[in-house]
Amino acid sequence: VEVAQKAAKAAASLPGLRDALEAFDHCDLKRGARNLVFSDGQPGARVMIIGEAPGREEDLQGKPFVGRAGQLLDKMLEAIGLSRAESVYITNVLPWRPPQNRDPLPAEIAMLTPFLERHVALAESDILVLMGNISCQAVLGKRGITRLRGKWDQAWTKPVIPMFHPAYLLRQPSQKRLAWADLLELKARLASLS
Ligand code: URA
Repeated sequence: VEVAQKAAKAAASLPGLRDALEAFDHCDLKRGARNLVFSDGQPGARVMIIGEAPGREEDLQGKPFVGRAGQLLDKMLEAIGLSRAESVYITNVLPWRPPQNRDPLPAEIAMLTPFLERHVALAESDILVLMGNISCQAVLGKRGITRLRGKWDQAWTKPVIPMFHPAYLLRQPSQKRLAWADLLELKARLASLS
């Protein structure tokens, strides 16, 4: 993890951080992945969304949240007037797809979190949205999304709000009601900032 901390710290810009990940050879996930999935959306946007890891589509295209979960994410954002291209910046805890989309291992999360923390600092968003348990684990060091969701917390000098992951909402559509409440909470906070 120390080598990750050093590499992440040395990156002075978002392209520099991307290069640092491309050059980082201490994570086995990289060897199984087709592409590095770094980010999408607008660097500097007020909202930064942090998902879990690339799936099949994301691995193929090299972009986060472009599969089914991503389509739902786009709709969730649109519902509160946010456009993916202009008003948010999107990344994941892991930049490489785990084999067969298995859950990330604690050691993988620990190794890649220094890069995420640097990513957050360089992106300069005002608010972090944590999608699901893995993201809460990496950023807050906490799990239990059902308890954490919709409640503002603080990490890495930013206000953060955990939400249900869109992939979970695809499996449990009845939980969309709660996700909607959380989106409205985010919208209200954004309105109070401007
Ligand atoms: N799920 C995620 O957490 N991230 C993606 O990029 C796609 C699906």
